Amino acid sequence: MKPLVAALAKGRLSGDAIDLFGRAGILSAGMKSALGALEKKSRRLIFSSPDSDLRFFLAKAPDVPTYVDYGAADVGVAGKDTLMEGRRNLYEVLDLGFGACTMAVAGPEEARDHLTRGNNLRVATKYPRIAIDYFVRRKQQTVEIIMLGGSVELAPIIGLSDVIVDIVETGSTLRENGLTVLEKIAPISARLVVNRASMKIERERIALMIKKLKAVLP
Ligand code: PRP
Repeated sequence: MKPLVAALAKGRLSGDAIDLFGRAGILSAGMKSALGALEKKSRRLIFSSPDSDLRFFLAKAPDVPTYVDYGAADVGVAGKDTLMEGRRNLYEVLDLGFGACTMAVAGPEEARDHLTRGNNLRVATKYPRIAIDYFVRRKQQTVEIIMLGGSVELAPIIGLSDVIVDIVETGSTLRENGLTVLEKIAPISARLVVNRASMKIERERIALMIKKLKAVLP
């Protein structure tokens, strides 16, 4: 039987995803520890077990929806942030609960006034589509989006932007940099996504996976 292929996001979600699939009995103990090792230090990118009809691989978080959209993976675990930004045509079937954080507009307290009334705000972000959607479509404000690759909190401190659009989890990165949440955009958490064709072709195996995951979710 062709293995069912699952893409997991590397980084902040991978540990919880491996743990959840383990608790759900989808990953055997052997697979779980091999994948755990993969996540921690190995440069190996893909893991499949000869005694299982499942193959797992770890991909960069924003790439997971791409693998699933093209059918290179049947299912994937990705953050709602990457799904909102990627806008792929996938089935989002389950909120997995972990990786909970907030997509927010943040900046120095002094930016609050400009944010509510001003136009031509400069917004630094790793999420340009989410930022445009929020400011232009929802708030009908004109903004200049400055795309950055990471450590976005630097931008308002250095004077590159007025505010940022980013995920806030514990809030410690904002606090340590004298910034604060100014507006909340959306709650974020990890989601199980399924390729549209796989949902039909692999319906039984995917339904079983969803059932097993649901059984261990709070
Ligand atoms: C994310 C995000 C914030 C931080 C928020 O960055 O972009 O910078 O985590 O977490 P906190 O509220 O718990 O402090 P990440 O660690 O993924 O790295 P990056 O900034 O290089 O993208």
